[in-house]
Amino acid sequence: MKIAILGGDGFVGWPTSLHLSDQGHEVHVIDNLSRRWIDAELGVQSLTPMDSIQERTRIWKQETGRTIHFHLIDIAEDYEVFKGWLAENRPDAIIHFAEQRAAPYSMKSDQHKNYTVNNNVNATHHLLNAMVELELDAHLVHLGTMGVYGYSSVGAAIPEGYLDVEVETLSGEKAAQEILYPANPGSIYHMTKCLDQLLFQFYAKNDGLRITDLHQGIVWGTHTEQTRRHKQLINRFDYDGDYGTVLNRFLIQAAIGYPLTVHGTGGQTRAFIHIQDSVRCVELRAAEFTSAR
Ligand SMILES: NC(=O)c1ccc[n+]([C@@H]2O[C@H](COP(=O)([O-])OP(=O)(O)OC[C@H]3O[C@@H](n4cnc5c(N)ncnc54)[C@H](O)[C@@H]3O)[C@@H](O)[C@H]2O)c1
Repeated sequence: MKIAILGGDGFVGWPTSLHLSDQGHEVHVIDNLSRRWIDAELGVQSLTPMDSIQERTRIWKQETGRTIHFHLIDIAEDYEVFKGWLAENRPDAIIHFAEQRAAPYSMKSDQHKNYTVNNNVNATHHLLNAMVELELDAHLVHLGTMGVYGYSSVGAAIPEGYLDVEVETLSGEKAAQEILYPANPGSIYHMTKCLDQLLFQFYAKNDGLRITDLHQGIVWGTHTEQTRRHKQLINRFDYDGDYGTVLNRFLIQAAIGYPLTVHGTGGQTRAFIHIQDSVRCVELRAAEFTSAR
């Protein structure tokens, strides 16, 4: 099937692109390379060497004979260009990773808050809006985050899909309702993921779009089966204070004998998923809904 991977140059997007290409799918990466520019803004870089997306796709073709197409599009800024691409290509599935994903970065200043909200909400809304306008019956898989629920409540039983509740009406009677699990974001970034899920709920209800919003925990690991095939296919490894997640930072601190930087009491619990499992999870969802048509 033809799959568009929005944000396919990023940490989760790149191994997902390789994984799906390896399965024989026609993979199209759409990315504005903003993540690479943010590295430059912060003065940091991945610990693993990162080749350009053009070079990485060239190596993949050389190693496997498979083509991953790359399209430089800003889906939050260039709505008409993006819509034009969707109209011409009409993918069977769309996987949406194209958002600013660091909570600390989203809280740095009022400009970073504006950027994160504008980028993430516009990216998601442009996609949904264009799908309806073009009558595109693709299955959309989005990577949300467990942080939507608020970290202190993660121990509660969170249902798949919607929560069945009863609300008291003015007459005092109880009325059954289906609602999303109460959102409780802890940062501007997490708040954009809550806005995303409302957009998904609305477009699924109003326009019948087929959407899966996966709320995973922190994705860790550098290699997947496909990235191991050539040293230039390796994934990024961030360990800075904005994009480096806790395991990566602890690993680097341990490696250089620096005391682990623990925030708060150190009693926090987090869910983790390895990148190999994450890409498999995305693949299962994309394939399941598309073949069910
Ligand atoms: N990394 C994790 O632990 C984790 C956990 C749960 C959910 N997620 C979610 O998964 C998605 C991908 O995360 P990641 O770690 O790969 O992030 P990332 O920053 O490495 O990748 C995001 C990619 O999207 C691109 N992008 C951003 N805005 C864009 C736009 N307007 N137009 C086109 N491309 C754009 C970036 O250039 C980048 O290549 C994010 O939405 C994130 O919230 C990540």
